[in-house]
Amino acid sequence: MYKISAILLMVCFLLSIVNHIAFSAEPITTTPILTDPPTTYPPTTYPPNTDPPGEPNCIGVECPVIPCDPGFIQYIPPGECCPTTCVCDPSTVCPLLGCEPGYVPYTPPGQCCPTKCVCNATFPCPLLGCAPGYIQYTAPGDCCPSKCVCDPSYPCPLLGCPPGYIQYTVPGDCCPSQCVKDCDPQTPCPLIGCAPGYEPYTAPGECCPSKCVCNATYPCPLIGCAPGYIPYTAPGDCCPSKCVCDPTTPCPLLGCAPGYMQYTAPGDCCPSKCICDPYYQCPLLGCAPGYVAYTAPGACCPSKCVLVVYDKKQ
Ligand SMILES: *[C@@H]1O[C@H](CO)[C@@H](O)[C@H](O)[C@H]1NC(C)=O
Ligand SMILES: *[C@@H]1O[C@H](CO)[C@@H](O)[C@H](O)[C@H]1NC(C)=O
Repeated sequence: MYKISAILLMVCFLLSIVNHIAFSAEPITTTPILTDPPTTYPPTTYPPNTDPPGEPNCIGVECPVIPCDPGFIQYIPPGECCPTTCVCDPSTVCPLLGCEPGYVPYTPPGQCCPTKCVCNATFPCPLLGCAPGYIQYTAPGDCCPSKCVCDPSYPCPLLGCPPGYIQYTVPGDCCPSQCVKDCDPQTPCPLIGCAPGYEPYTAPGECCPSKCVCNATYPCPLIGCAPGYIPYTAPGDCCPSKCVCDPTTPCPLLGCAPGYMQYTAPGDCCPSKCICDPYYQCPLLGCAPGYVAYTAPGACCPSKCVLVVYDKKQ
């Protein structure tokens, strides 16, 4: 009987040591414990016994089964005989999680390995100077502010508008800069008829529409254009009415000899032939007296000197 008790005591003692080593080797930050950490147990609450200090008498203690998820192991707090909780298995090697600069791996509570990258709170963000009345704005999912936006707590200077007028903030501005008519929504506006594709337009500061403008959401009739051409909307129109050359389509290269230049026929988008360049300085021939420079038909520059033949009738 004594032998069995001694063996049991030894097993308990060794288990306790194994747990101790296992958990002191892993920093508490990367090994979340699901319940209260064991350090909260005051050592003075141990019942007095004859065992070595801090080691309970576990002989004959029957422990309840604590099921642990994969990657977790049972944990026996110091001074206890039975596991009370499951903790991360320190022998588990977590898959490497590469995080971009400014991000750090994050292990959610109750898990043992990092699952995503989160902002590194101590990473210094590039300084973003914002004008008075503006504050830095960090887009959702970003770690650093990317732009300046209106500061809602900024006290805008009062405009002092006359009666019947209210302050107006230009879209994109943070503070009102104009006084506009205080429109009464109960007062009906005169009807203004607009052609298809157009819609009534109310000028800033006015209460009623005064003209028709293009309706940006109106579905214009489709206009098919040949390759190299794009639809063209004439000024004042709302929909394209014809096809014009697409300036972004590159033309095939047309090599022209010196003295020649590329020629684009009316209605074409690309040059189709080389013609004489009227600004080209033809080489001087230096013809003797009585001779003149002669340009052959189709040529751009004179190629020879010919004798001047006077018309006898003159
Ligand atoms: C967080 O950023 C600071 C400052 O750049 C850096 O020293 C630290 O190593 C970063 N933390 C991690 C876990 O990368
Ligand atoms: C603009 O055109 C769309 C599509 O035809 C139409 O639904 C909408 O009512 C028009 N808007 C106005 C103000 O006429």
